[in-house]
Amino acid sequence: MRYKFLLILLAGALAAACSRPVPPVQDGSELWLAAGRPYEAVLASVQTAINPALPAEGFHIYDEGAVRRIEAGSEAGLRYGVYALQRAEVLGQAGPGIDLQEAPFYPLRLLNHWDNLDDTVERGYAGLSMWEWTAPDIPEARIRHYGELCASVGLNGAVLNNVNSNPLILDAAHIARVAKIAAILREYGIRTYLAIKWTSPIALSGLKSGDPLDPKVRAWWKDKAAELYAAIPDFGGFLVKANSEGQAGPQDYGRTHADGANMLAEAVAPYGGIVMWRAFVYSPTSPDRANQAVEEFLPLDGRFADNVIVQIKNGPVDFQPREPFSPLFGKLKDTKMAMEFQITQEYLGFSNHLAYHGTTWEECLDAETYRDGPGSPVARTVSAIAGVANTGQDPNFCGYILAQANWYAFGRLAWNPELDAEQIADEWIRQTFLRPEGLSAKVFDKRFVAPLRGMLMASREAVVDYEMPLGLHHLFGGTHYGPAPWERLGRPDWTPAYYHQADSAGIGFDRTREGSGNVDQYNEPLASTYNELATCPEELLLWFHHLDWDYKLSSGRTLWDEICLHYDRGIRTVQGFQKTWAGLKPYVSASIFDEVNTKLDIQQNDARWWRDACVGYFQLFSKRPLPADAAPLETPIDSLINRNIQSDRLGMPIHDEAHRPVIPAPRFRRPRS
Ligand code: GCU
Repeated sequence: MRYKFLLILLAGALAAACSRPVPPVQDGSELWLAAGRPYEAVLASVQTAINPALPAEGFHIYDEGAVRRIEAGSEAGLRYGVYALQRAEVLGQAGPGIDLQEAPFYPLRLLNHWDNLDDTVERGYAGLSMWEWTAPDIPEARIRHYGELCASVGLNGAVLNNVNSNPLILDAAHIARVAKIAAILREYGIRTYLAIKWTSPIALSGLKSGDPLDPKVRAWWKDKAAELYAAIPDFGGFLVKANSEGQAGPQDYGRTHADGANMLAEAVAPYGGIVMWRAFVYSPTSPDRANQAVEEFLPLDGRFADNVIVQIKNGPVDFQPREPFSPLFGKLKDTKMAMEFQITQEYLGFSNHLAYHGTTWEECLDAETYRDGPGSPVARTVSAIAGVANTGQDPNFCGYILAQANWYAFGRLAWNPELDAEQIADEWIRQTFLRPEGLSAKVFDKRFVAPLRGMLMASREAVVDYEMPLGLHHLFGGTHYGPAPWERLGRPDWTPAYYHQADSAGIGFDRTREGSGNVDQYNEPLASTYNELATCPEELLLWFHHLDWDYKLSSGRTLWDEICLHYDRGIRTVQGFQKTWAGLKPYVSASIFDEVNTKLDIQQNDARWWRDACVGYFQLFSKRPLPADAAPLETPIDSLINRNIQSDRLGMPIHDEAHRPVIPAPRFRRPRS
């Protein structure tokens, strides 16, 4: 009897093994174009027509009897329509009777590449520059692949080089090279733009000045624009970082941002070009960096030329895991504004950590500014959108398959800022991961798509929890990868101690009316909401307030206890991801499984390092024990303080074989005699 039972069990196990889904071999290098029919096949299956009654980049997909038609306002619109149909097919939304009509919300949807001419990428974590500036020729196949990926989500512009620009980008050799890249991108409906260095006329032609009101300087830029447009007739225009972080600008000559921007705008205007002038400016002497963009730009409202767009980072400091939206969005009324998001994960674990930004950007775009009364969300205050790209030469472009979701999400939100982050995550998963043969769509949904979607949706909050909970911010060391809340060296507003302000009484940056007054850069009722402790959202508490360690939160716990528990929760969430991912093994290629597995292991170890460093360090001030239900710290603060992770030549953090961060002791510096 027992023998028979065993046989049945064995047979069952064998049957289960045989019916195990067999995932198709894939390595992530096709990104989200993996699952659909090829573009050409979709195009060949429809009848297309230009319909001038539709918006230029808009399309209409519909069935007329047995014929499927795509009409669009332009060739670009047709391309978007074909990709939209391809996506609808993958999502199972392309059945008979389809009727899909769309047009992009923003006319300008750009990627900003912070790529240098020596092929390094500032804040890039996916290898060297995808444009291969130093190679004899341009990498055509990769550029075409990039063009397809961008077009498939509706992106229509690319700034090819770093905002910390090298003047040589405007020499004849580079213009010729840029023209070759632009010729390929044009085929995908993408315009090419360049970031310029303010001092280019001095560096390239020996002019004595960069004064925007100097006729020689103005003539130089006009000539340069003519040269550019001769080589690239649809050149988009310039992106400018001026008077920011050591970059020169019009203020060096006693002129304003508007003087500088308008001078460049005049040079490109005859060709329909634009100038994107960045608002990421801050002076080392101002008491609160978060105040400075409004202080500098509000007085210039209405003084920028029509073809100037002021490009503003989503938050007032610098792409932190969570920031309130930049108050400038609520203040400028007569100036065109662009949103600048950061797709590359400079402050969110590089391409090692899972941090899906759909939720971050949705939070920002939906935020109410009250600029024109209620009903003025950030999304409606801006007329263009830019994302700092996370692309590089890595075969999968982004250094991590799960980081590709951020490029995709950026494109989708740029097309329609009202899309839902969860829906975008869902679309991305279904297009990126091929369904194993023999597995029904329903089972795939339940066992694979839903759990992975859950991981994406929880991921950004996990990073907030283990890096900077409750509104803490900028606690980073050198490369912006690991924790260094102890750092006080150098310029104050580049160091964590300036931002957390921890002392024996408490922690947090006082931006209330008693403090830096930053709250009053927001429109009412938001200004008072942030100013009052009772109404300030807890997730931004320490962004706006300096509070006692024993301050009671809505949970009834003290601030100190809550800080500790948030760090713990972040770690637990990542451990949950590891468990979930282990269960997804049968549904993905071995190489993808291993990649994510390793990255999650790194993320989990890094999260524990963040907790030990931050909680351990803040405990030196709070002098309070960990709450009873918190996990004990694993590494004593003495062995972490003043230490940073070891990085390679390109700034990528090094982990040991067990995926733990390699944190060498600080180098001993012999005191000068
Ligand atoms: C951050 C980032 C820099 C970058 C700058 C910018 O400070 O760390 O690498 O140049 O932002 O946006 O200009």
